[in-house]
Amino acid sequence: MSERVRITDVSPRDGLQNEPLADGAPIATERKAALVRAVAACAVDEVEFTSFVSPKWVPQLGDAAELCAELASDDLDGVQLSALVPNERGMRGLLDANERAGRTLISKASVFTAASETFSRKNTNASIDETLERFVPALALARDVGLGVRGYVSCVVECPFEGPIEPDAVARVCERLIALGVDEVDLGDTIGRATPQTMSAVLRAVAAVAPAERTVVHLHDTFGGAAACVAASIEHGIRSFDGSAGGLGGCPYASRDGERAPGNIALRTLVETVHASGYQTGVDLDRLGEADRLATGMIGGGA
Ligand code: HMG
Ligand code: MG
Repeated sequence: MSERVRITDVSPRDGLQNEPLADGAPIATERKAALVRAVAACAVDEVEFTSFVSPKWVPQLGDAAELCAELASDDLDGVQLSALVPNERGMRGLLDANERAGRTLISKASVFTAASETFSRKNTNASIDETLERFVPALALARDVGLGVRGYVSCVVECPFEGPIEPDAVARVCERLIALGVDEVDLGDTIGRATPQTMSAVLRAVAAVAPAERTVVHLHDTFGGAAACVAASIEHGIRSFDGSAGGLGGCPYASRDGERAPGNIALRTLVETVHASGYQTGVDLDRLGEADRLATGMIGGGA
């Protein structure tokens, strides 16, 4: 099993999607581009940098096409770019952005569903079955042009609406995603409830349907348990994790009244935990300060 752990920064996507508009306006596209450049400069493996979702649902990321135009001629030190898509319409938006850039600017699409029916409906206005049906034409388009595909499963440990989720329910959704042709499944602890024990139970169940080499772990750090879950996941053979510069993040549809959804595991905490576990990443921690500074300056109306 590899000693190298792959790191994806999701701060421009997961980190900003929950950010309310300030006076009706989203954060300036150039500032988002600066954040993408700053995290890429830390030599992460991948940046999930925007979403081709409905701007009515996620107004903060309604400038996906403009952000792609802004980054079109930037090589970002060879760091891979990926973006979230919920359906065929989103996949066409992603492919159009590549077309306009004149190259494969975005080489991976991330589709997303959940292990909780209630969360799925709140997040995408669709049952789990319906989300998977939406992926079929989207994945066909991705396959035609050789795009990589990630399949997220939210609420792998607990749902903000339904409570604890059975590990077998997570495995069943992963199995269906693999059957649809995703390259990797990404297990989202959407509300940061995982412990090493509950995460291990999920990973044991998922191992029966997806090899560890095709499994990614995406943790939120609400209760400070994310680092321990990274260490436990490494023990299960996981070699790919998501984190967020400045610890920004949280799914808008995981928020409850008056209670904002928690942030992702901070990129620095993630990388330090991986290194402390005896594994390597390519991430330059000295450069991370600038990315953290830019990221945290973008939320709460920061300048
Ligand atoms: P809907 O309202 O059921 O869909 O939304 P619809 O097909 O009826 O379309 C409604 C409107 O949206 C129409 O426009 C469509 O054209 C448009 P109108 O006719 O009203 O003007 N539309 C689109 N526009 C742009 N891009 C598209 C698109 N599709 C339709 N792709 C839909 C269904 C899935 C679109 C909506 O629910 C949606 O966009 N949801 C996204 C929610 C989201 O982004 N959530 C956060 C990401 S998931 C997450 O954070 C979890 C994760 O981090 C892992 C973890 O932590 O667990 C990944
Ligand atoms: Mg998330």
